[in-house]
Amino acid sequence: MTNPTIDTMQAHRSIRKFQNKPITNEILETILSAAQCAATSNHVQAYTIIQIRKPTMRQTIAEICGHQAWIVQAPVFLVFCADLNRLQTACERYGKEMALGYAEQFIVATVDTALIGQNTLLAAESLGLGGVFIGAVRNDPQKICDLLEIPDQAYPVFGMCLGYPDDDPPVKPRLPLEAIFKQETYSSDDRDTLLEAYDRTTRHYYRSRNSNLKDETWSHQMAAFMSKIIRPHMKEFLSQQGFFLK
Ligand SMILES: Cc1cc2nc3c(=O)[nH]c(=O)nc-3n(C[C@H](O)[C@H](O)[C@H](O)COP(=O)(O)O)c2cc1C
Repeated sequence: MTNPTIDTMQAHRSIRKFQNKPITNEILETILSAAQCAATSNHVQAYTIIQIRKPTMRQTIAEICGHQAWIVQAPVFLVFCADLNRLQTACERYGKEMALGYAEQFIVATVDTALIGQNTLLAAESLGLGGVFIGAVRNDPQKICDLLEIPDQAYPVFGMCLGYPDDDPPVKPRLPLEAIFKQETYSSDDRDTLLEAYDRTTRHYYRSRNSNLKDETWSHQMAAFMSKIIRPHMKEFLSQQGFFLK
């Protein structure tokens, strides 16, 4: 069973190479207005999206992000921030003191930001554009805050490149549904068998895609990735920004 929405979702693949064709303001605003319709915890809408147009700023961000060339080349580059500042203003307007620093607020703001981010990419894809999330803005989140003047009670969760694709990579296979979809309880599945099957699928994918061919499986890739300590500065950075204190 399918329909155009499901077709668009199933055709997703990150795009890192873009045509030299601008995205009009009208298209960008259509995408972001649609993305804003994402569900939001208690209607808090705890996010702010910053568009970066200046080439010098893009260059600096690309350097922070480990020289990801697509950050400079993409017609549109956005930084999605979890942001509690407007909520603080709402409290002030009514003489209330906002309860600050709770882990729950951090989760709410981060989840809200992820939802509008995914909606943004999906809306873009539905219009024939492509893009990629950029989590690497968290390589040096303090520098990103300084550059973009992001205040306390906000932090950059990810960036996003958007544009017309100049590449047609294959769709990356996901885990078998049985691995992530359970009934009633978490319950154990035959995880080894499922992972073996998925490793065969991913090995085939990595061997047969049109560029960056490699002999690789998902388990092997994850073992290498998950045994590394990644961005250990985040805890201290988040507490400096006023998140995650209680
Ligand atoms: C929060 C988040 C951060 C990501 N950060 C980066 C990034 O910094 N650079 C990049 O090239 N891809 C990044 N990606 C893209 C993932 O690598 C990609 O979604 C994943 O490998 C699955 O491939 P697909 O999107 O083509 O299906 C990110 C994705 C997410 C959701």
